[in-house]
Amino acid sequence: MDVALGRTAWTQTAADWLVLPLTDPVDWSPPLKQLDQALGGGLARLDAAGDLPIKPAATLALRGLSGLAAPRLLLVGLGPTPVKPQTLDRAWTTAFRAIADKPNLRVAALIPPRIAGGPTTAESVQAATVAAMVGSSGQDLFKAEKSKHPFAGLAVVLADAPTAAEEAALVRGRVLGEAVNLTRELVNRPPAEITPAGFALRAERLARELGLACEIWDQPRLVQERMQSLLAVAKGSSEPPRLVKLEHRGAGAGPAQIALVGKGVTFDSGGLSIKPTDGMLTMKCDMAGAATVLGAMSAIAQLKLPVNVIGLMGLVENMPGGSAFKLGDILTARNGVTIEVLNTDAEGRLVLADVLSYAVDLGVERIVDLATLTGACVVALGEDVAGAMTNDQPLCDRVLSAAAAVGEDLWQLPMFDLYDELIKGDVGDIKNTGGRWGGAISAGKFLQRFVAGKPWVHLDIAGPAFASSSKPHREGGGTGAYVRTLVELVTRMSAGRTE
Ligand code: BES
Ligand code: MN
Ligand code: ZN
Repeated sequence: MDVALGRTAWTQTAADWLVLPLTDPVDWSPPLKQLDQALGGGLARLDAAGDLPIKPAATLALRGLSGLAAPRLLLVGLGPTPVKPQTLDRAWTTAFRAIADKPNLRVAALIPPRIAGGPTTAESVQAATVAAMVGSSGQDLFKAEKSKHPFAGLAVVLADAPTAAEEAALVRGRVLGEAVNLTRELVNRPPAEITPAGFALRAERLARELGLACEIWDQPRLVQERMQSLLAVAKGSSEPPRLVKLEHRGAGAGPAQIALVGKGVTFDSGGLSIKPTDGMLTMKCDMAGAATVLGAMSAIAQLKLPVNVIGLMGLVENMPGGSAFKLGDILTARNGVTIEVLNTDAEGRLVLADVLSYAVDLGVERIVDLATLTGACVVALGEDVAGAMTNDQPLCDRVLSAAAAVGEDLWQLPMFDLYDELIKGDVGDIKNTGGRWGGAISAGKFLQRFVAGKPWVHLDIAGPAFASSSKPHREGGGTGAYVRTLVELVTRMSAGRTE
């Protein structure tokens, strides 16, 4: 998709569609008045009748227009000011999703002059660009007739000459849109294609394109590296495991300021503790943590953020083959902790255990991991909200604040000492399930045993990573959720912000 920023009169902007956001009440800025005049006062009449879409993400499509250089105008509501980042994002995405029904469309996003309490023009430029890229691409990768068609072009139209901040917002929006779509695509692709080796190949290709250092460990190397916990999960599958390490050196020499760690279970059948069909149906999504890390790393590299970041992805397939690991097995993780296997379906924590230990061994300063880890987290917070767990409140606050700034919902769960009791082992140090109650937190407590006290935040994205159905503001399937949170967090680290 071509993306360009420019300044043309709204009435003279040539495109298949113009898309215009409206606040509640409508701000009758000079360019809007001019547009209305060219339409014979139609917009003012709609406003007087209370028929303009001004509620958040309400839309009104006007087709067959004359008097403008474009035949169609889509109006979309932002609601009252101040407009929250999530509201802004959803309004633009809803608008673009609504018009992406034809191939090769050229679309113009009209950015109104800033009103007090409204989004800045740079924020609008970024939101519109991300939304155009994400909203116009669908999950129907293998359908003959697509329901969504990526736009051929997006022109972001300002009322004044573009500033440097607005130019940067356009680039950032394009890079973020691509990154979110990459994560979505990897999650949406079938598990026969996105095997551990298949995922690793995609990561390697991307790393080459972006100039990221990339290291891939195969099965023998994983054995050498004492990753027996990760390897146990892979035993029941004919697909060999991989570990992918990507390195972005934006700040030159010195340790990585942050490691991003992702759970990459390319298919989770549950193993011998096999899932019923309903529970297994969407388990191609169980590599979403790794896909989110890959998406974020691609954006961090393209934006050349001046931070040293390591991305680690633990890739396995969890299957119940004849050599599968068993209930009652004792695994010795890379850091020497012994784990009693009570349920082979609690495999994500076994994969992450060794990858987190490796991040610690690399000497990184802090760690954020992402995992579709527990159904319990979805029960606790619902399908659209990830759970955050931490051993370091200041770092967690930074992650929460980055998420809020980009409009992604995230909620912290407590890590009281009492939850440690739940995972104490009988035969080994710890067991891999903590029972029915507080399941998201006992999983978090399990992971904490492998970070050696390093500042760490765990994001359980089991709900929001994969949407079971489409909504006006987002397509079903892989969502790319939290890619933008990670990039925002790293951006703030590069700006030296610690709040
Ligand atoms: N991958 C699942 C968690 C999951 C559930 C992700 C729903 C996305 C949507 C994970 O490996 C799992 O099976 N967890 C078990 C843990 C239990 C056995 C302790 C669960 O949540 O039931
Ligand atoms: Mn599982
Ligand atoms: Zn899983």
